[in-house]
Amino acid sequence: MQVFHHIRSMREALAAARREGKRIGLVPTMGNLHDAHIALVHQAQSTCDCVVVSVFVNRLQFGLNEDWDKYPRTLPEDTAKLEAAGCDFLFCPEETEMYPNGMDGQTRVVVPTMTDILCGASRPGHFEGVTTVVAKFFNIVEPDEAVFGIKDFQQLAVIRRMVEDLCLPVQITAGSIVRADDGLALSSRNSFLDEDERPRANQLYRSLRWVEDQVTDGRRDYLTLAKEAAEQIEAGGFKVDYVSIRHSRTLMPAADDDREITILGAMYTRGARLIDNVSMQVPARTPEE
Ligand code: PAF
Repeated sequence: MQVFHHIRSMREALAAARREGKRIGLVPTMGNLHDAHIALVHQAQSTCDCVVVSVFVNRLQFGLNEDWDKYPRTLPEDTAKLEAAGCDFLFCPEETEMYPNGMDGQTRVVVPTMTDILCGASRPGHFEGVTTVVAKFFNIVEPDEAVFGIKDFQQLAVIRRMVEDLCLPVQITAGSIVRADDGLALSSRNSFLDEDERPRANQLYRSLRWVEDQVTDGRRDYLTLAKEAAEQIEAGGFKVDYVSIRHSRTLMPAADDDREITILGAMYTRGARLIDNVSMQVPARTPEE
């Protein structure tokens, strides 16, 4: 695997790969790689001839009181994992390489819909930071395909919207959520869970699955269902940010006749904010219902 810290050398290597007719895949990450990231790499390898993984903890997408400074940085371990996974190129720029003019005056990419709800409501500016850095990575790497984990469901929807609105020539692919045996979605922020919280941290997933079961059994009172799930999470000892049931594509509040819905949630542990989601097909009602 070749490692690049500079845009120029990254582009030169990619130009050579492209001249050989290779299909380029990109997996953008903030590092601290775990099995879910490696699954995204393998997914990209299944359709691309050359896979680039970026590792960059993007300060632009963190709020002032968020965990940018304590976000785990484990580049040597990440490099070894990517090497073992057969990744072709690792791109790990310094902040000055990505934001040479500083961040205040940085040109931003703004998706005006879908970004001030759910995670965007409690993390103002977050998605603007994400779309800006992802657009930069797309311009640097010019990938044919980019793979994003579906655990960040809203992020994926926002990126798809950016790509559509800006006619960016990149195929966006969703990678499935990888879970621990007890259902907890793998996340770099799980390392912030203490010994007491970790065994209970699957509460978010259990409550989202409970909503799924209720909908399968015929309930469509989505606001009440979300409130009940939030109460379960609070009873499990966590502070709820939100639980919400949405149309899977538009992220609008789910309506009675929506067939594709996603149950999304975010909760605070003592040291982290965890997110998760469950998508489902709503069964059609029988004529008697
Ligand atoms: O999902 C992430 O890890 C980040 O939001 C991303 C897409 C790498 C942009 O910094």
